[in-house]
Amino acid sequence: MDEKSPRLPEPFKIKMVEKITLHPREKRKELIKKVDYNVFMLKAEDVFIDLLTDSGTSAMSDRQWAGMIETTQAYAGSQSYYSLEKAMKDIFGFKYFIPVHQGRAAENILFSTMIFPECYVPNNTHFDTTEANILRNKGIPVNLATEDAYDSAKVLPFKGNMDARKLEEFIREKTPEKIPLIMTTITNNSVGGQPVSMQNIKEVSVIAKKYGIPVFIDACRFAENCYFIKQREEGYRNKTIKEIARELFSYADGCTFSGKKEALTNIGGMLCTNSEELYEKFRNLTIVIEGFATYGGLACRELEAMARGLYEVVDENYQVYRHRQVEYLAKILRDGDVPIVEPPGGHAVYIDAKKFLPHIPPEQFPAQTLTVQLYIESGVRAAEIGSSCFGKIDEKTGKFIPARMELMRLAIPRRTYTDNHLKYVAECLTMLYKKRDQIKGLRRIYAPKLLGHFTARFEPIN
Ligand code: F0G
Repeated sequence: MDEKSPRLPEPFKIKMVEKITLHPREKRKELIKKVDYNVFMLKAEDVFIDLLTDSGTSAMSDRQWAGMIETTQAYAGSQSYYSLEKAMKDIFGFKYFIPVHQGRAAENILFSTMIFPECYVPNNTHFDTTEANILRNKGIPVNLATEDAYDSAKVLPFKGNMDARKLEEFIREKTPEKIPLIMTTITNNSVGGQPVSMQNIKEVSVIAKKYGIPVFIDACRFAENCYFIKQREEGYRNKTIKEIARELFSYADGCTFSGKKEALTNIGGMLCTNSEELYEKFRNLTIVIEGFATYGGLACRELEAMARGLYEVVDENYQVYRHRQVEYLAKILRDGDVPIVEPPGGHAVYIDAKKFLPHIPPEQFPAQTLTVQLYIESGVRAAEIGSSCFGKIDEKTGKFIPARMELMRLAIPRRTYTDNHLKYVAECLTMLYKKRDQIKGLRRIYAPKLLGHFTARFEPIN
């Protein structure tokens, strides 16, 4: 199919539906007030269209459900463990793996094993749980994305890249002994779901090898990233997503993976490595904190659903549909002049709240404000990826240091909503944009130190 061909419909049909309810506006206002203006605290049943996350919210296929019923449950050595191992080896190509209950469990095991106090862990951009798991183990997370990542209007094919020159300077400055591993997050969620090029992964890998530092990929959205490579990077147009994935992972020593995204399941994850020594260490810790190493905190049926989902996510027809749906939402927003991060990411469209609400300063949480207003306006739940999520309090001065970007993310659950749902979201957001001058900011009245945004409380500023 070329660009002029008719827009392909979903490569599936619907077998089961779930009712959703839109409460009246007054009730939505009351509900959000009751939870102190934090959408994480809303009941899911009070949300009309839930774009809080693409994690654990996919609709599974009939083949995945069938596999869940067919498999047997076993504490040790279940057949689904071997199905998942086969899929992992076939698609990722690592020598060893451990299933875990979700991505952050893989992060916990990885960092508890590999890092030490005061060490540095560079990444293009750490996701919030990755950052928190490093801090919890007394390491220092470092973000080395290119400057382009922070310019929401700039259209570039691979805005998720690591700045390779900065990485090498950083290693030289801090010395390789203080850097136990380097990570690369694909796609780069925190700056707009932006992809990383194969070229960049290779460059990072060459630098890491030069200094003897292992590279781990945060592979949450690897297939969406590989599809971008296929579309945008020279030499990949005729390769399958699986072939691209195999090449990409061949430049790494291991990966963390959240199956809640691209295994198209509602729970699950993996920690993979090529090192037997590391695998032994990971395995021992997994048994203590997750469960025996052939189930890793999951029911065997969930392993089976992941094994089957991994093949569905590397199916090109699925990726074409996925990317066109994200682009569809982006286009309607763009047509309504709503400031979005360009180009749109692989799993979400991000709104630049600094541009949407230029009259609201960072201390008044523009992205959080927009998220709250969108719920009131439409019953749609989005996620804040701004100063509530990534802002810091300087320990010495007590001063608030805002995040570099104030984004509101409209994450699209996989195979869950139709284009009509997304059209409604875009139309409501466009209406809100027209009356943006009337929107007032928020004051934060409570936030715990680590991952504070989940339970933070706010009040409106009048
Ligand atoms: N890394 C990235 C890039 C992520 O986006 C996430 C989760 C994780 C790690 C952790 O995985 O949730 O399975 O423990 N992201 C979700 C989100 C929560 O909404 O973006 P997990």
